[in-house]
Order: sequence, then structure tokens, then C-alpha cells
Amino acid sequence: MMDSVMGRAGGILTRRRFFEQLAAVGGVSLAMAGMDALGFGFASASELPPTLTGGGKGAKVIILGAGLAGLTAAYELGKSGYNVQVLEARSFAGGRAQTARKGFVDTDLMGNRQECDFDEGEYINIGPWRIPYHHQSTLHYVKKFGVQLELFNNDNDAAYVYFEKGKGPLAGKPVRKGQIAADARGYTAELMAKVASKGDLDAVLSPGDRETFIAYLVNEGRLKRSDLSYKGTDGRGFDVLPGAGIDPGPGKESAPYAFTDVLNSKAWQVLNSVAGWEQQRTMLEPVGGMDAIPRGFVKNIPDGVIKYNALVDRIQQNPKGVKVSYTDAAGKKAELEGDYIICTIPLSVLKNIRMDVSKPFLEAMNNVAYAPVNKIGLQMKTRFWEEKHWIYGGHIYNDIPGIGTISLPSTNWHGKKGTLLGYYAFGGEAAKISALPPAERAKFAVAQGQKIFPEYAENFETSFSKSWHLDPHSLGGWAEWSDDGRKTAYPVLCEPDGRIYLSGEHLSYLGGWQAGAIESAWQQIAKLHQRVQQA
Ligand code: ALA
Repeated sequence: MMDSVMGRAGGILTRRRFFEQLAAVGGVSLAMAGMDALGFGFASASELPPTLTGGGKGAKVIILGAGLAGLTAAYELGKSGYNVQVLEARSFAGGRAQTARKGFVDTDLMGNRQECDFDEGEYINIGPWRIPYHHQSTLHYVKKFGVQLELFNNDNDAAYVYFEKGKGPLAGKPVRKGQIAADARGYTAELMAKVASKGDLDAVLSPGDRETFIAYLVNEGRLKRSDLSYKGTDGRGFDVLPGAGIDPGPGKESAPYAFTDVLNSKAWQVLNSVAGWEQQRTMLEPVGGMDAIPRGFVKNIPDGVIKYNALVDRIQQNPKGVKVSYTDAAGKKAELEGDYIICTIPLSVLKNIRMDVSKPFLEAMNNVAYAPVNKIGLQMKTRFWEEKHWIYGGHIYNDIPGIGTISLPSTNWHGKKGTLLGYYAFGGEAAKISALPPAERAKFAVAQGQKIFPEYAENFETSFSKSWHLDPHSLGGWAEWSDDGRKTAYPVLCEPDGRIYLSGEHLSYLGGWQAGAIESAWQQIAKLHQRVQQA
């Protein structure tokens, strides 16, 4: 792990230096152009949908699935004069973009039926819940449909880190992330600064660079310039807060944890959580729930285009056209004929549906795994994390099996109640917890959260849990490609098989994101459109 972190940091320094030189020579605009050219800039081929000039020429497209990919295809093709019809297995649109609020019903494959009984105004995004600022494709529709956004706090210095499997006095103790960050940075900077000042890095640093490097470390670690020591920093907080007058006056800064305790706690593992491209600031969310996005699409797609409760059981094609057999809302067998199909059904589900496609296509569909993913919303009587702990949103990273991340809401600050995410876990641990009935899942989540917040259990009111691998229409949270699958199966599925085009997050490198679904739809409708124009 350390190797890769250092490797990445090394790479970033080299690039930064290059851009600094560009800026020095040609000003900021040249540096920006350089960044763009190397793919570190802001221009993106995926900011806008394709322009479908020439219209649909009467072509009839059957779209399977009204998730983000299907909705995007239906909206764009419909707007451009195609004859579109969408078949959706669920009774609502949005696919995995679901928000559980009062009255929302979910029945999983084990027969667990849950009806959400949160208070009015409380909700949990059980599917997608955050939108990175660079997912301009998602934000394109957010803007278009007037969906209101708010900040999603994806990084909070005041949030606790809880590592029970570490060693030393910090193990099994909630500690503020900002304190771990300040101490890890401080001690590391101190160590490096002392090594550099003794001349031990002279082989890799020129004398000028050495001085600047030491200055950088003093700045980075907030070290004492005189002896290059780290003795704590106001950034890690106060034992007595500064205030008015003589008392408390300047207050009393908190003392740092010992370096060895920080190292042994293992809590430093969380410090790069938002360093990656996908998770870095700025993160956004729709006000009132993620399902505002699918609702925006539905409002802008003519009534009747989406048929709900339509369960596809057979997909046929021949050189002249396509046919889909399904069971309709009334439970009757029905058929739909058309010219093309855009199929957004997750591969986990699709591979169980009879479909006229080539053998390599069928084999490719079997070459991908889907992630078990669990979430649980816990409605709490009070917002004790804000009131008692001063934590406004962000995540409680921890190493409790089956919990993954606990997250605090970034909405309705200081409201009466709040709904937090009691677990967000993947893989085998998620599968284990999902085997429990919903009430037991909640009991588990509450008992674990209690280790971190003493107010947890007494505030818990009601829960709503989701296990994506137990959802018959998803059978997993998202597609997980192996390196081999990406090389062999993925390219096969990105191309149409006859008149059938697949689309969804699974056909993108933005797996598990709405942007992946949207941009995949954009690609496929552009290809289909080109074909229709040539036909
Ligand atoms: N994109 C998913 C998330 O934000 C995985 O958690």
C-alpha cells in the first residue's frame, strides 16, 4: 500500500513541476492548455449528449430498463424523433437510483418485505448518493431538469475514525480524523525535515532544493522552525476552546498523540480516502433525495412511453427487426416489436433471460461479477452527532466487519431528527449481514454504531435496509470487471450484436456511478443513430 501511495505522490510532483514550468514560461493559460492536452484539465468528451441530427426516420427503438441509461436513451432519442418504448420491470423509474422515504416498499429475493416508515422529510439514498463535480454528464441533466443541489460532505476533519483492530491506546477508540491527519503529517514532516537538515538527502536534493524542501515540511507539518519539531497544532483542536477575554482567552491546544500510537492505530489508512479522482471534493447531492434525477427524466418523457411492471422474458432478433416478450402489469403475456433494442438490464439479470445473440456475446456476458452491496438507513430521534459531537456530515471510517462506512447526513442541518447511513458494506461481509431479517440487520448496525457514539441506541427509531445482490432486478450493486474481462469481454459488449445494443454503468469505466450509465447511453445512441442515418 505504501509503495503505491509513494509512487503516486512521486508522479504528481513530477507533473506539478512540469505545469509550474509551463506557467512560468507562458502564464496560467498555457499551463491550463498543457493540463488539458495531457488529460488533467477540464475539457471532457462526456459533458454533453450527442447531437442526433437527421432525426429518427421512423425507427422504433425498444429500451429495456428505465434506470439512468434507459431514461437517457429514451429522453434523447424521443426528443430527436425516434419512436421509443421503454419496458421497466419495477413499478417506478430510476433503476438503482432509489430513495427510501415514507411508504417506499422493497421486497428482496429472500421474501423480506420492508415498507419505509421514516417520518415525513426523512430519507436515505439506498443507491447512488453522491455526484462528483467532474461528472458533468450527470450534472447536465441535473441542470436541465432543474434539480436542486447541495454539498455532500465527503470529508470531515471532525468525523471520527474507529479502528478496533489496531494496537495501542487509540485502538477501539473514536478519534477525530483531523487529529490523526495532523499528527501523521506533523511527525512525518518532522522526520523528513530532520533527515534533510542533517544532509542525509543531499544525494537527491540540490542545496537550494534542500532548503525549500525543509521550508515545505515546516509548512506541511506545522513544525517549529527553530528545531523542526512537531508539538501539535491548533488544526487538531483544543482541550479548552479559545474565546473572549482573559479566560478562556487563547484556550489550550490539544496535545498530539504519540507517533507510535498513531502508527499502531492503523487509523492513518483512511487519510487518502478522498485523494482519488472519484472521491475528491467537490461532492454534490440533490436536495431531498437522488430520485429527483429520474423524476426529472420522467417529467420530460411523454406519458405512456415507459411501461412499468413489465418483466422481460425473451429477447429476439432477426435481420429485419426485434421482438421482446414480457409479462405486463396485469400479469398477461405481451410482445413488442421494433427495429432496435437498447438493453440496459444489468448483466447479472440479463444472463438469465433468453436472448438471440451470438455465442461470443453470451460468453462475454458471463465474464463479469456483480458486487454484493448493503446499505441501511437509521432514523435517529435527535441529531446527536451534530449537537453533541459537532460532526456535520462526512463519514465515520472504521474496521468493523459488515459496517464499512457509517455516514452522517449532509442535509437538514440542525433539524429535529436525522437519518444516517448505518452501514455501507461490500463483498462477503455484506452478503453475511444481508442473510439476516431486516430487524436483525438494524440491531447489528445499531450495536456497532453504539461503539462509536454513546447516544446511538437510545436515539434509534426505525430503519430501512437494502441489499442490492438480493434485488431481483439488479442482483448486485454494480459490475466488477477483472483486468482480463476488461480486455476480452468488455469490448465485445460495447458493440451491438445485430440490432441489440447494451448500455449501462457496466459498459463504462465509471462503474457504480450514474455518469457511467448516462455516458454509456450517449455512446450507444450515437452509434445507433449513425446506423439509422445510413440505412
Ligand atoms: N459510486 C459509488 C459510491 O459513491 C460506489 O459510493
